[in-house]
Order: sequence, then structure tokens, then C-alpha cells
Amino acid sequence: MKLKNLIVRCYTEEIDKARVEDLERRCGVGPADHAFFTDTMGDPICRIRNSPMYNMLVAEFGNEIVGVIQGTIKVVTIHINPSKDSAKVGYILGLRVSPPHRHNGIGSTLVRHLEQWFVANHVDFAYMATEKDNQPSVHLFTEKLGFIKFTTPTILVHPIHKIPFQLPSWIEISKLKIEQAEFLYKKFMGSSAEFFPSDIDKVLRNKLSLGTWVAYPKGESWGEYGGGEGAPAVVPESWAMLSVWNSGEVFKLRIGKQTVSCFVHEMYTRLVERLFPWFKSGEVFPDFSDPFGFYFMYGVHREGPRSGNMVQALCKFVHNMASKSGGGCRVIVTEVGGGDELRHHIPHWKLLSCPEDLWCIKPLKDEEREIARLHEMTKIPSTRALFVDPREV
Ligand SMILES: CC(C)(COP(=O)(O)OP(=O)(O)OC[C@H]1O[C@@H](n2cnc3c(N)ncnc32)[C@H](O)[C@@H]1OP(=O)(O)O)[C@@H](O)C(=O)NCCC(=O)NCCS
Repeated sequence: MKLKNLIVRCYTEEIDKARVEDLERRCGVGPADHAFFTDTMGDPICRIRNSPMYNMLVAEFGNEIVGVIQGTIKVVTIHINPSKDSAKVGYILGLRVSPPHRHNGIGSTLVRHLEQWFVANHVDFAYMATEKDNQPSVHLFTEKLGFIKFTTPTILVHPIHKIPFQLPSWIEISKLKIEQAEFLYKKFMGSSAEFFPSDIDKVLRNKLSLGTWVAYPKGESWGEYGGGEGAPAVVPESWAMLSVWNSGEVFKLRIGKQTVSCFVHEMYTRLVERLFPWFKSGEVFPDFSDPFGFYFMYGVHREGPRSGNMVQALCKFVHNMASKSGGGCRVIVTEVGGGDELRHHIPHWKLLSCPEDLWCIKPLKDEEREIARLHEMTKIPSTRALFVDPREV
């Protein structure tokens, strides 16, 4: 295959949809022994549709689609340059190259084309996330394309089982109005968190966002709101909040056959029999053999000494809500900064979780100076909270 015969162009639904879906079906992400697949349910562009600006490129060779890539653009908080705490960022996702055409330069060609689209739209930084063990992807971005390893967040996954969690009786959980959630997010994460989106109102108002909930000690006051902006008049000493995004409405995940058998084996031998000998396996371990949806918990934030318990109660509340939803939602997923203590309070199964997701970043403007800043910054692990935008999951 000669690269000069490769055509890279924008995705056109009418002519590309079926071929792109077919490519997606054939491309597992991650190592062969625990690869997963994305089922876009007839809309290959579904993962980026909710972002303020998006683009999907296809690589065509003869009559065949041999690669795809997606990108989004938005403004977020980012603390690389001390004189500027926000930047326009371009997120790269959904890069897939057809297995027989790999290692021919198609992946890098697609990324370079997407970078050109970012540059044309005045993007300051391009970034991407990948599994740390996905060697082709890590090499492609860091060794070939000059991306810098930026941060290693933790992805936490909890399966949904039929037995509801008991919620602590001393904790009150209530749903916030969108204006209240927006106010609190801007106040508590708006300047301190990394990657907090400037259009948080649009995220919260999106139909996939099921709502925002707060937890605080029963008997303490939260209910009074001071004004139109949603400012609570009184905030308890300890409280926590989170929002829920119904990712299963847009796409489903499918786990490779090898992975399923590996999970099942692990479950039976290590967990179910040891920890839950009294349950039948199906009650504890959800069925991952068919495509399944998930809820993504975003904007998890806490304040005060007892807030760890509040986070835990909120997660259990979301689990119970998902188990009643009946919509094919089989896991709850969230992602927190690698150094964030929050992860100790979020119920998750180690076997299903990913302790180190890898985010890589590349400056597209004033490159030399920004690269030096990034290298300096990544020497010390960040303690800042990370806002993982549910539109990019
Ligand atoms: C990752 C992927 C897109 C790479 O596509 P590709 O067309 O093979 O990439 P390229 O040919 O442009 O390779 C460029 C560089 O990537 C790295 N690379 C590619 N395949 C590799 C492999 N199997 N092992 C190690 N490094 C690899 C090398 O650094 C390579 O540079 P080189 O050719 O000078 O050695 C492709 O393997 C793929 O579709 N994987 C499954 C989906 C996935 O994991 N996507 C990434 C999610 S972010």
C-alpha cells in the first residue's frame, strides 16, 4: 500500500456510515487479551456530536475505508502557563486503522490531518487519552508525533447488580436544579480543576445528563437558595456532589470474547466464590457478552472532613438508580485524577478498573516554550482535581 494513494477527507454520512461502522466493529481497542469494541448503534459520529465543535476524518484507499479519527474543540481551564489559566484544546479520539493496513503510516497521517484542523481553528493544545498498555497508540503519539505524557488518571468501574446498596441513614441526598449545579461547579471547580469546560452549562443541560445530586448530613441545612444564580445560602461543613451522564444512550461497549472468558474465570475463581458464596453468579456479575451501556459519573466534588462518606453514598445512590433503570446499563464508570484521594471513596472493582489511563498533550502554538513548561510541570504529580468531560468518554 502506497501512502500517496491514500485520501484523507471529512466523513460524509451518506457514503461512509456503513463502512465506518464495519471498521469500528473490526477494531478492538487495547491489547488482544482484553480488547473492547465500541458499538455506535448506527451513528458513527455519536461520540463527538455533543461537543461544541467536532470533526471526523476518514482515510480511503481505493474503495475501502482503512482508517478513521475524530476530534473535538472547546475551551477549558489548564494550568500550564502561569499567566493564562484557560486554553482552546483539541481532543483526539476514536482513532482506528483497519488491521491489515496497520503500520503503513495511516494512523500518523490521520492524526496530522486532524492537527491541521485544530491549527486552522486556533487550538493551543491537542490531547488524547489511551490505555497505558496500548503500545501502538502510546508509541504513535509519544514517539512519532511529539505528544508528552501529561497525567495518568484512574478509571473506576463498578458493575451493576440487582441487589441495591443500603444507603447510610445519616446522609441526605437531593437533586439540584441545573442553575444550582452550574453555580456550584463554577465556584468549586471552575478555576482550580484541570480541563474544566467553559460551557459547563451546556454539559449540564444536555439530554444525556440525568442530573446532579448533593449529599450532606441529615438535619443540616442546604435547601435555601439565595438567588437566581443558584447560590445556596448555607452550605454544610461536609458535602459532596456529582452528576450522571447516560452514555448508553449514545453508544454501547462490547468486550472481546477472550476478555469475557478471562473476566468470568477471574470472577468465579477469585471473587464470587470467595466473597459472595451465597449468591448465584448472575446476580453479582453482570452479563458482558452482549453490547452494554454505562452511566458515567462526572464532576465528582467534595468539601469537608466527612465528605468521603458523602461521595460513597452518592455513588451507591447512582448504582441503585442504574439498577432500576432497566435500560441495559451494566456498569458505572468514573475517572479521577491519578493523585486524587477521591478514588478511595468511590466503590469500584479493581478487576474492571484501570489504575492508570494515560493522557498525552502537545502544544500547537509557541511550541518550544510550552514543551519546556510541560516537562517542568509533569515532574511533580498534579494534585489538582481533573474534570473529565462526559461528552468525550
Ligand atoms: C494505534 C493505531 C491507530 C496505529 O495505526 P497505524 O496506522 O498502524 O500507525 P502508523 O503506521 O502511522 O504507525 C506510526 C507509529 O506508531 C507506532 N506503532 C504502530 N503500530 C505499532 C505496534 N504494533 N507496536 C508498537 N508501535 C507501533 C510506531 O511508533 C509507528 O512508527 P514507526 O512506523 O516509525 O515504527 C492502530 O494500531 C489501531 O487502529 N489500533 C486499534 C485501535 C486503537 O487502539 N486506537 C488508539 C486509541 S487512542
